[in-house]
Amino acid sequence: MRVRTFLIVGLAVFVLSAASAVAADYIGAAKCKMCHKVQYESWEQMAHSKAFEKLEGDQQADPECLKCHATGGNAEMPGVQCESCHGPGSDYKGMKVMKDREASVAAGLILPDESTCKSCHEGAPHDQKPFDYATQKDKGIHAHKEKTE
Ligand code: HEC
Ligand code: HEC
Ligand code: HEC
Ligand code: HEC
Repeated sequence: MRVRTFLIVGLAVFVLSAASAVAADYIGAAKCKMCHKVQYESWEQMAHSKAFEKLEGDQQADPECLKCHATGGNAEMPGVQCESCHGPGSDYKGMKVMKDREASVAAGLILPDESTCKSCHEGAPHDQKPFDYATQKDKGIHAHKEKTE
């Protein structure tokens, strides 16, 4: 009996924590800008920030296009914003969490790699340019803050 209760409680905790991990929300690039101005200002100049503007008319409401041309597939978050690569930020955006890489990752921060890029740079319903991470990395990623500290 005790063992069963233990298992049920354990399962409930598992289900609840799985649900809360899924529940992170997209907060939008303007919120990241507050603390990451260098990355934001260079991203703003790049193709990713303008990806939604490539869609015309009904395409701007077509989930088949929004999944790669908007953030989280949401037209209200146009373009490939920070969270398209770094994951939805509602749970990691706080200063205390952000300063701790492990805690940030546990709260959903993604440290992107080649596979992140390929989730969009392969499999589009239109012809795509061949994607080569080594050569396209520098054109596709924002500038970095110089490490002065
Ligand atoms: C309240 C300030 C604040 C906000 C808001 C914030 N960050 Fe951060 N972030 C930091 C600090 C501080 C660090 C750790 C030092 C650094 O790398 O600048 C950090 C680190 C990071 C890192 C590097 C992690 C690593 O260890 O390599 C990424 C990526 C990141 N933030 C992305 C984001 C994104 C995307 C958003 C918006 C969804 C965001 N941050 C919002 C303060 C913030
Ligand atoms: C799987 C991700 C993905 C989906 C889904 C997707 N696109 Fe794209 N799209 C891209 C990428 C990545 C590029 C960047 C250039 C390239 O690789 O061709 C792009 C580029 C474009 C361009 C610019 C082409 C150019 O030469 O500048 C247009 C227009 C476009 N997409 C329209 C659409 C429309 C319309 C839809 C929906 C029917 C759509 N895309 C769905 C990933 C996608
Ligand atoms: C196209 C994907 C992509 C987008 C969009 C993106 N990032 Fe990044 N970001 C990366 C990658 C990849 C790295 C790791 C860079 C490396 O290892 O050279 C990174 C690294 C970072 C870091 C760690 C410190 C640094 O500069 O290397 C921060 C902070 C960060 N990004 C914030 C942001 C913010 C804020 C935005 C939105 C304004 C954003 N990123 C948009 C891919 C992206
Ligand atoms: C959420 C989907 C998505 C992700 C993730 C993504 N991209 Fe893109 N990328 C796009 C779309 C859509 C465009 C087209 C933007 C436009 O033409 O306005 C694009 C354009 C580009 C361009 C501009 C040149 C070109 O091919 O037209 C480069 C370079 C690029 N991406 C590199 C990267 C790299 C490197 C990563 C990973 C660190 C990455 N992308 C991740 C969707 C994505």
